[in-house]
Amino acid sequence: MQQNDNPRRVLVTAGASGIGAEMARAFLQAGYAVQVCDIDPDTLASFLAAHPDISGMLADVADPDQVEALFDRLLESSGGLDVLVNNAGIAGPTAPVDQVGTADWRRTLAVNLDGPFLCARAATPLLRRSDAGSMINVSSTAGLFGYPNRLPYAVSKWGLVGMTKTLAMELGPVGIRVNALCPGSVAGERIEGVLEREAHRRGLDKETVRREYQRQCSLRRFVAPAEVAAMAVFLASDTAGAISGQVIAVDGHTEGLFSLDDEVSP
Ligand SMILES: NC(=O)c1ccc[n+]([C@@H]2O[C@H](COP(=O)([O-])OP(=O)(O)OC[C@H]3O[C@@H](n4cnc5c(N)ncnc54)[C@H](O)[C@@H]3O)[C@@H](O)[C@H]2O)c1
Repeated sequence: MQQNDNPRRVLVTAGASGIGAEMARAFLQAGYAVQVCDIDPDTLASFLAAHPDISGMLADVADPDQVEALFDRLLESSGGLDVLVNNAGIAGPTAPVDQVGTADWRRTLAVNLDGPFLCARAATPLLRRSDAGSMINVSSTAGLFGYPNRLPYAVSKWGLVGMTKTLAMELGPVGIRVNALCPGSVAGERIEGVLEREAHRRGLDKETVRREYQRQCSLRRFVAPAEVAAMAVFLASDTAGAISGQVIAVDGHTEGLFSLDDEVSP
């Protein structure tokens, strides 16, 4: 827990709901000055109403102009940044490669890769001025394994691992640490949507798909958002001061991302 007279400043992208909201709350609890951004005005407004100690701005991380405006406003309001959490990421389509639409492919890569790049580029000059500069890129177990029928998502999350390793090397010499955090399937609305879409695609009931997903994990359960948030706070902390360039899973040990009928005709 930090002293509050000069709190460290964190930006959590897509922080108004889901894992990002949980991370924003965990950083607040740890004594940080917390800012979030989100693409959805209603979600952002209700999150900010429920969390008067957190600031927030509307931004689509895939849009260069909006990211520029976000960092301009952040600099104005906070005077700098100590921790960037590149959390924004969309699930993308669930479909075999020959049914993935170009617009879906591009949008998934735009949010999941352009977004972290644009935010990392804008944040770097601010993180250089911090004495505790750190970046956390929220990848996924989909960045550790192949993931049949989720090609754009898997490609984007592996790309984020490459971004992490490269930026850790580029920015380490100026004291900025960069790590990737790979959650497994996290309990919450989003995984329910993934299960529904997959059940629909395969003509199964949702509970069968849920059991199949949970069988991918050695602990046989989904991860709690708070378990991911606790790792983010640890990675940003001085206790993790020698940890950089790492790809850290919070996934109950995923054994692989596959389902029993993933075979597609060649
Ligand atoms: N939920 C999981 O099971 C899971 C597992 C592994 C990794 N992840 C990763 O964790 C991160 C957060 O996932 P989640 O499940 O909390 O997401 P989510 O789908 O619940 O969305 C969280 C927020 O993201 C916002 N958002 C969407 N697109 C945005 C954009 N372009 N710019 C700004 N905000 C945007 C939404 O409005 C929403 O408030 C993502 O990068 C995701 O890929 C999630």
